[in-house]
Amino acid sequence: MAKKWKVAVVGCGMFAHAQYFKNISKEANAECVAAVDIVYERALDACKKYNIPNAYSNVYELLEKCDVDIVIDAASIQAHHEINMAVLGAGKHLCTQKPAAPTVEQLTEQIELAKKMGVKMVCAPIHPMRYDINIAKQIMHDGGIGNPYYIKCNMSHGGPEYFQYRDADPSWFFEPGAGALVDMGVHALQIVTSLFGAAKAFSCMAKVTTPVREIRSGNYDGKKIKADMIPDHYVVTLDYGDGKMALVESGFSMKSSKAPQMEIFGDQGTISFTSPYMTNPIPDVYVDAPERGIRGWMTPMQWIKPPKKLNSQCCLLGDLVNAIENDTAPVLSPEHARHVLEIMCKIPEAIESGNRIALETTF
Ligand SMILES: NC(=O)c1ccc[n+]([C@@H]2O[C@H](COP(=O)([O-])OP(=O)(O)OC[C@H]3O[C@@H](n4cnc5c(N)ncnc54)[C@H](O)[C@@H]3O)[C@@H](O)[C@H]2O)c1
Repeated sequence: MAKKWKVAVVGCGMFAHAQYFKNISKEANAECVAAVDIVYERALDACKKYNIPNAYSNVYELLEKCDVDIVIDAASIQAHHEINMAVLGAGKHLCTQKPAAPTVEQLTEQIELAKKMGVKMVCAPIHPMRYDINIAKQIMHDGGIGNPYYIKCNMSHGGPEYFQYRDADPSWFFEPGAGALVDMGVHALQIVTSLFGAAKAFSCMAKVTTPVREIRSGNYDGKKIKADMIPDHYVVTLDYGDGKMALVESGFSMKSSKAPQMEIFGDQGTISFTSPYMTNPIPDVYVDAPERGIRGWMTPMQWIKPPKKLNSQCCLLGDLVNAIENDTAPVLSPEHARHVLEIMCKIPEAIESGNRIALETTF
């Protein structure tokens, strides 16, 4: 009989509740055996709500006391590296929220430790697994828009204190180590690099748009947050060489927008992403084919084996289990995450100097 994977979730906050606890057994042959949070009551609450047998107040206690195969790190950004090193060092497989570490060197340490311990790791976000991204990749591969040369991608919202309902205090999102770039920019950078591969260089401008914020829901409704330490609005241009480039806009700076989240432009057409990605939409495609008398927008039907549809952002667990069971590389590879992290780590230098910054990592 196939192995049932024992999973623990570290960090029982907004995202763990929204995406992980309720989907663990749906996304893999797995069960949640433990919930962990430094605020122990949150771990207990999760156990009560989802019928999980064990609650712990830190990852070390989990690793010492619990029989677990896989850990999902859904804690605050600043805690990821320590948690991930502990998990990998204990020989457990890892799904980590983004970014997995604060520096490229530290993520390399995690990658090396995973190899040494013979375990696998996958890194959020999950965009390379998206239905619409994979359809767009196929269309580009088949020449549907000619030579694709430009991507424009905007991943922004109005800020965690505004956009999502929260019972945990979101002030940490505005403190050193976190911020709009590593929380939101990471999405856009992962998306464009999923489509065009590793970038060669980039430049960036960034500003603080909203130095004081107010929490708009949950236990801390009305609390003011000092938010002037890290920029909350970024404009990044990426150079891919070969006449290809991308524009990434990202931040906690757009309460709403009616613009498509992303468009890919080629010399014979455009692919446009207008619908929320969790609805598994097929992107619209503009085709310019004068030899066949066609010029216009269409929603393409599926003529190839369709990619897998997304059910939840816990799909990263399915990716990890698939990689473990088949001893293959996961889709959500740590090497891809490291390339995105290199861009994010070098952004302060790009802002400060105004220069175009070269990139070294690939995936
Ligand atoms: N779409 C997405 O991919 C998406 C969306 C939102 C958040 N996230 C990510 O999910 C993670 C959590 O964000 P959130 O919105 O749930 O935040 P949150 O503040 O609601 O939850 C974080 C939880 O982690 C706990 N925690 C902090 N340090 C810990 C430690 N050392 N050990 C155990 N628990 C610890 C906190 O007590 C809190 O309960 C972050 O990495 C964030 O970037 C991803």
